[in-house]
Amino acid sequence: MICLTLAESTLDEDIIKLKENREYIDLAELRLDALSESEMGKASTFPSLVDVPVILTFRRVQDGGKREISEKARRQALLEALEGSFSYVDIEEDIKRSEVEEKARAKGVRIIRSLHDFEKVPEDIFSRLYHLSEKGDIAKIAVTPRSFQDVLTLFRVEEELRGIEKIVIGMGGYGVCTRILYKRLGSFLTFASDNEVAPGQVSARTLKLEYRADEINDKTAVYGIIGNPVMHSASPLMHNRGFHAIKYNAVYVPFLVDNVRSFFMFAEFIKMRGFSVTVPFKVDVLSYLGNITREVKQIGSCNTVVRVPGMWKGINTDYYGFIKPIVSDIEGGRIKSALVIGAGGASHAIVWALRNYGVKVTILNRTLSRAETIARLNVCDYDSIENARKYEGSVDLIVQTTSVGLYPDEDKNPIEGFNFTGREIVYDIIYKPRMTKLLKEAEKAGCTLHYGAEMLLEQGKLQFEAFTGYHYPRWVDSGLM
Ligand code: ATR
Repeated sequence: MICLTLAESTLDEDIIKLKENREYIDLAELRLDALSESEMGKASTFPSLVDVPVILTFRRVQDGGKREISEKARRQALLEALEGSFSYVDIEEDIKRSEVEEKARAKGVRIIRSLHDFEKVPEDIFSRLYHLSEKGDIAKIAVTPRSFQDVLTLFRVEEELRGIEKIVIGMGGYGVCTRILYKRLGSFLTFASDNEVAPGQVSARTLKLEYRADEINDKTAVYGIIGNPVMHSASPLMHNRGFHAIKYNAVYVPFLVDNVRSFFMFAEFIKMRGFSVTVPFKVDVLSYLGNITREVKQIGSCNTVVRVPGMWKGINTDYYGFIKPIVSDIEGGRIKSALVIGAGGASHAIVWALRNYGVKVTILNRTLSRAETIARLNVCDYDSIENARKYEGSVDLIVQTTSVGLYPDEDKNPIEGFNFTGREIVYDIIYKPRMTKLLKEAEKAGCTLHYGAEMLLEQGKLQFEAFTGYHYPRWVDSGLM
C-alpha cells in the first residue's frame, strides 16, 4: 500500500493534498505535529472527512517532528484525537505503557510501534524489530543507511523476520530504493509525500505511476542504475515506461551507491537481471565482470551489466548511442574530421567510436596529459583546450564531452569565443539543459545541432534490448526528447 504523509498546518490543506493524490494512494498518515494549535483540537474529525484509512502520528522533535511540546501535552493531543475513527496510531518504541496505547487497544485501533534513527542503521536492528512486534503490533523502523552495505542489511530483514507485520524504511539518499522496493523488504506500506516530509521520500504519483511500486511481487525482475549522484537520472522513467508497455513484470530503480562491491552483493541477493552504470562507477565495475564485449575492453569502461549464466557480462552502449545520430553523416562523407572537447570517460568512448568509423580526431582538453593518453590509444591528435580557436573552420564535427555548461552552470561554454563557420555539425552530450550555451552559439552561426538527449535515448534503447531481449517499444514516449 502507498501511504501519503500529510504534514500541512491545517486540516483543510491536508484534505486538499489528499484529494490531489487520491488516485495514487491507499491510506494516509495525519501528522499532528505539523498542525497549528487550533487545528490540532479538531484532528479527531479528520478520518470522517476522508475516504481512506488514516494513521494518527505525533512525531517528537527528536524523531523528525515539527513541534516543540511537552511529552504530557503530546500524549494529551493523541488521546483527544483518538476520539476520531483512526485506523492506526503510531507509538514510539521507548514509550512503555501509556494511556494512548490502552485507549487504542480498547477501540481496536492498530498500533504501529516505531523506531527512528536519523544517524544510522542500529546494529541490533533484527532483534529491535522483533521486539517491536511482540505484542502483535506492526513493527516500524525508519533508519538511516550510511552506506550501500546498510541498505543490504535492510533488505535482509525479510529473510530474518518473515511473517512479522512490519514497515522497514531506509531514509536519505541511500534509502530511496527501500521506499520503491518496499514489498521486497516485507513492508506492508511505503510512505510518500510531494514535499519530502521525511528525507528521501518520493511522491505518491511517482511511486504509483512510474515505479508501480504496489504491483511489485516476488516475480518482478529488478533492474536499476547505480551512480553517485543518481537521483537526477532520466533512465528510470524511460525503462519503466518501456517495461510497462511490453507488459514485462519488471521495475527499474535508482540506486545511490558508495562502492561497487556491496552493490554486487546486493544484486546477487535480490537476483537482479541487469543494471545501468553511471559516473563514477563505469571503470570500477570491470573487475566484477566475467565477460566483456570488445567495446568495453577497448574503451575501458562499462555502462551496462547483464546477468548471463554463471556471471555478469559488461556492455558499453554509450559508444553506439553516441554514433547512431551521426552515422549517416559519417558514411555519407559529410564528417571526415572531428574536434572532441574533453578527455574523460565519455570522451574515450566517443573518440573510439569516431576512430572506428575512420574519422580524423583531435582531442582538446584542459589537462593535456589526459588528452594525450586517449590520443595515443586511438591514434589521433591532441591539444590544449586554450588553443581551440586554432581549429576554427577546419573541422566537420565538434563534440562537447566535458561537464562545462551542465545544469546549474548553464552560462558556461568550454570553448568560449570559438567562431563557427556554420558548416559544422555540433554535438553536445550534456542533456540538461537540452540547449547548452555552446549549442546556442553554434545555432546562431547556422550549424547543425545534435543533443545529449539523442545519445541518451539511443544508448538506453540498446540497454533495454540487452535487459529484455525486445526492442524499445516504438509507440512509447521515453520522456527524454
Ligand atoms: P566523464 O566520465 O563524464 O567524461 P570525467 O572523466 O570526470 O567525466 O571527465 C570530465 C571532463 O570534463 C574532463 O575532460 C575534464 O577536464 P580535465 O581532464 O582537465 O579535468 C573536463 N572538465 C571538467 N571541468 C572542466 C572545466 N571547468 N574546464 C574545462 N574542462 C573541464
